[in-house]
Amino acid sequence: MLAEALLQWYAREARDLPWRRTRDPYAILVSEVMLQQTQVARVVPRYLAWLERWPTAAALAAAPVADVLAAWVGLGYNRRALRLRAACAVVARDGWPAELRSLPGIGPYTAAAVGAFAFGRDELPVDTNVARVLERTGWTPAHTPPELGQAVMELGAVVCRAREAACPVCPVASGCASAGAVVVGPRGRPGDGTRRERFEDSNRWVRGRVVEALAAGADLPAGIELERLELAIEGLVRDGLVERGADGLSLPS
Ligand code: ADE
Repeated sequence: MLAEALLQWYAREARDLPWRRTRDPYAILVSEVMLQQTQVARVVPRYLAWLERWPTAAALAAAPVADVLAAWVGLGYNRRALRLRAACAVVARDGWPAELRSLPGIGPYTAAAVGAFAFGRDELPVDTNVARVLERTGWTPAHTPPELGQAVMELGAVVCRAREAACPVCPVASGCASAGAVVVGPRGRPGDGTRRERFEDSNRWVRGRVVEALAAGADLPAGIELERLELAIEGLVRDGLVERGADGLSLPS
């Protein structure tokens, strides 16, 4: 049985990640939103600091937007931080809804992850790692208790990786449709999702630097071409993340 083998492997090998030690839906939500954009190793310290600063949904909902944006620097799209705060405002007012997707900014993946890992529901959160494992193995689990969802995620993250499937050490190789036969295209082939621009070349990076500078009360960041700054600022203003006032740019209060 694939599920049995996977669960045994997970019990033995799972990384000890802080969000796996809690069932607090707020903490799980914070971890999942952070993990959507940022690698596990970078998320861990930020997650711990975040929960120390804002230990509950109500605490986050009461925090000034500028503080939340400043604390999000380096964690990816700023909009995610605002939606997280907005979702927490609803939770602080009304409690957790039965339908998690009704919360602002909570899509099917995040709803399934919080449903499974916090509320113990039989739901499989399908991110790219999980989708890849299911596709390669040919597995369609009928039931996915929360532990099994974590195990599938873990397998995708550390064994059944996109570019290097470690079939010889895989706990489910014997029941896998693709064991030993995973074909990975050459690095950088257009359209295979592996050709990446440098993060520093992206508009997202510039936006992050602008928010970081404003949060620190500084002028605009040095060493970035004006055109790139303007493009980033335009988008930040449009998204309501930065305000233009008589005194120049500021974060919303
Ligand atoms: N990536 C997204 N969710 C995760 C989780 N719960 N554990 C590890 N990596 C993840």
